[in-house]
Amino acid sequence: MSEKSVLTHMLLFFLFSLFSSASSGASQTITAQGQNLVTGNVSVIEGETATISCRVKNNDDSVIQLLNPNRQTIYFKDVRPLKDSRFQLVNFSDNELRVSLSNVTLSDEGRYVCQLYTDPPQEAYADITVLVPPGNPIIESREDVVSEGNETEITCTAMGSKPASSITWMKGDQILQGEETVEETYDRMFTVTSQLRLTVSKEDDGVPVICIIDHPAVKDFQAQKYLEVQYKPEVKIVVEFPQGPTREGENLELTCKAKGKPQPHQINWLKVDDDVPSHAVITGSDLYIENLNKSYNGTYRCVASNLVGEAYDEYILYVYDVLATTPPPTTTTINPDAAQDSRADGGPQKIDHAVIGGVVAVVVFAMLCLLIILGRYFARHKGTYFTHEAKGAEDAADADTAIINAEGGHNNTDDKKEYYI
Ligand SMILES: *[C@@H]1O[C@H](CO)[C@@H](O)[C@H](O)[C@H]1NC(C)=O
Ligand SMILES: *[C@@H]1O[C@H](CO)[C@@H](O)[C@H](O)[C@H]1NC(C)=O
Ligand SMILES: *[C@@H]1O[C@H](CO)[C@@H](O)[C@H](O)[C@H]1NC(C)=O
Ligand SMILES: *[C@@H]1O[C@H](CO)[C@@H](O)[C@H](O)[C@H]1NC(C)=O
Ligand SMILES: *[C@@H]1O[C@H](CO)[C@@H](O)[C@H](O)[C@H]1NC(C)=O
Ligand SMILES: *[C@@H]1O[C@H](CO)[C@@H](O)[C@H](O)[C@H]1NC(C)=O
Repeated sequence: MSEKSVLTHMLLFFLFSLFSSASSGASQTITAQGQNLVTGNVSVIEGETATISCRVKNNDDSVIQLLNPNRQTIYFKDVRPLKDSRFQLVNFSDNELRVSLSNVTLSDEGRYVCQLYTDPPQEAYADITVLVPPGNPIIESREDVVSEGNETEITCTAMGSKPASSITWMKGDQILQGEETVEETYDRMFTVTSQLRLTVSKEDDGVPVICIIDHPAVKDFQAQKYLEVQYKPEVKIVVEFPQGPTREGENLELTCKAKGKPQPHQINWLKVDDDVPSHAVITGSDLYIENLNKSYNGTYRCVASNLVGEAYDEYILYVYDVLATTPPPTTTTINPDAAQDSRADGGPQKIDHAVIGGVVAVVVFAMLCLLIILGRYFARHKGTYFTHEAKGAEDAADADTAIINAEGGHNNTDDKKEYYI
């Protein structure tokens, strides 16, 4: 078919459609009757290829064409009058006209028209929407390092997308919502910024904060940043020795374990409401006291500090008598948080005394029982002894013989038996 004849055909059909729409009244009724002609909206990412399909259900050899938003014919049947080579025929049959449009740009957006030359003519609309993905998300935090308990602010920006992106946040596996600002640029693009405010704790140190971009043109689009949190030291006093109770004359060594971020730069030992004994040796985090003396009783405190703050742990020293028979419990270290409970050591002490008392009572009782049993046993033996003696007396002719028999004891029973026989 030559181009000229196509154009003649088109002109004829155009006149025909004009005439028929005029004769049948308003062209607005077309869509209502156009159940035979079907198409669909198309979303396409900028630069990629869109496909428009005009489908006819019960075609009676009517001619089909595709128009662009300016109502220029792109395809008339399988012929392309439009010079734009980005339009290509994918399929042409009685039931379908399918056309692809490659290298889609924003200016391709609009309402495309499928037209069927029936009487009256039918139209169906395919809206092409061009999606523009945002640029790589940019994540920034106000501070590089945050102190525990402080608030920090993290922003994430998704630039130049169409439509606007939406941004969600994750801290570890927790979903968070930021404050979103949408800005439209002159070229109908959108830049979205989300601001996340966080009050950080020590546990947040090293946890990733992820900014997730939600946009129809992208998948798994995200950026992340690791939180860096500074925190004040955690302090714990460890007793190196003695292992048992702290008695007079013993040596005491305490070590102060402190960790924080940044690592504590200073560790101090002091005695609450008093001076540390003059001969105590403090080397770094160690406190060493030789030859304990009751006058050293008291609360010893280790204080560690870094630029976030300071913290301490306490150790209560009781020096016990060397002679003490029932050793009271060893002194315990306590946390400053639980400092009020420190004197409540009397509780466990009483319990221990009760237990020891109980054990002693049981032992004494057991020994008494043993004594009674032993006593009874001996008493019974004595009884048999006396019986033998009595028998000896019976057998004996006189008292002297009885005594002699008795002195023989039961060693002589055999002899006595002989007497019996
Ligand atoms: C196509 O998109 C337009 C808006 O652009 C909408 O009004 C219409 O309902 C859509 N058609 C279909 C079939 O989804
Ligand atoms: C589409 O764009 C690419 C480069 O972006 C170009 O090489 C190609 O020729 C273009 N195709 C058409 C049909 O314009
Ligand atoms: C083209 O259309 C014909 C008839 O409708 C169909 O059989 C064929 O599968 C189509 N081809 C493609 C590539 O879709
Ligand atoms: C304990 O210390 C006091 C004074 O600090 C001293 O008078 C006393 O002799 C010391 N006791 C022992 C057993 O070392
Ligand atoms: C030290 O503690 C022990 C045990 O509680 C007590 O017997 C002693 O009297 C105390 N000494 C001083 C000086 O407080
Ligand atoms: C953050 O914490 C530090 C203590 O490390 C404090 O000096 C500072 O004022 C805090 N900043 C804010 C904004 O709260």
